[in-house]
Amino acid sequence: MQDFLRSLPKAELHLHIEGSLEPELMFALAERNGIKLPYASVDEAKAAYQFDDLQGFLNLYFQGMSVLCHEQDFFDLAMDYFKRASTEGVVHIDMHFDPQAHIQRGITLDVIMSGLLRAKQEAERSLDLSVGMIMAFLRDRPAEEALDVLEQAAPYWDQLDAIGLDSAERDHPPAKFVKVFNRAKEIGLARVAHAGEEGPASYILEALDLLDVCRIDHGIRCLESDEVVERLYEQQTVLTVCPLSNVSLKVVDELNGHPLPALLDKGLNITISSDDPAYFGGGLLANHLACEKAFGWDEDAFIALNRNAITEAFVPKSRREDLL
Ligand code: HPA
Ligand code: ZN
Repeated sequence: MQDFLRSLPKAELHLHIEGSLEPELMFALAERNGIKLPYASVDEAKAAYQFDDLQGFLNLYFQGMSVLCHEQDFFDLAMDYFKRASTEGVVHIDMHFDPQAHIQRGITLDVIMSGLLRAKQEAERSLDLSVGMIMAFLRDRPAEEALDVLEQAAPYWDQLDAIGLDSAERDHPPAKFVKVFNRAKEIGLARVAHAGEEGPASYILEALDLLDVCRIDHGIRCLESDEVVERLYEQQTVLTVCPLSNVSLKVVDELNGHPLPALLDKGLNITISSDDPAYFGGGLLANHLACEKAFGWDEDAFIALNRNAITEAFVPKSRREDLL
């Protein structure tokens, strides 16, 4: 099964590129940029990756990305993950990135975009790995700031596939971002949002109704509302479920008790992703292997999940047909 899962062409629709920063690269970039890290060693950093909740993780996530300063750093970050993912049989990644987290530190949007777009091109050329670009906004920061970044990104609009909404979910409902998402729609960008990870099922409905998203990132708390499940079923809205992330952030107690089998039983459109692989115990292959162990899924189940992902991915039609 391990060989089958590695060789199965896989797509992930929910990956934060800053969350793919392995401690080894974090230390190398810290040294290159003269930045002091709060850890004495790679092992000490890894030992700190124990989280009580989403906020506990976000604190280390934002601290880790402080080593990213130059165009080359963003390129190296993304290529490091793309190469690893490619050896795991990943053929497509829809990549979230968090411009506000870097702009706040004085890094320009041009530095971020040129590094990431160069890595995307390189992955497509040398790894046969396609990459979708999702510019994500931090929901615990003001909506006006998000709108400002979206306008600043005008030179890059045609290279973006979608905008997203991430960071601390509780008390930051989708409604706060209606203007930003309307503007993205006007520009012609697709829209996705994290909802129903730590936040309530009602945030999923809000994201669908007010932000007109085509995809819900996480969404597992939909099971707390029959109305929300019904809606997701009727529309067959994709959920990007991240099993190892949910365990790491204590959204669920253990993988054996994860609602993935229940979500599939309801007939929902499920895909599997790694979210922040450097922090949550592994990439897309590790997530597949963990599901096989916990749920005993057979080969057909994994084939179906990846067909869902490839069908819904931000990928040109001709490549989609090749991958399916
Ligand atoms: N949830 C919300 N925001 C995030 C996450 C997540 O799982 N990962 C990176 N930013
Ligand atoms: Zn996420």
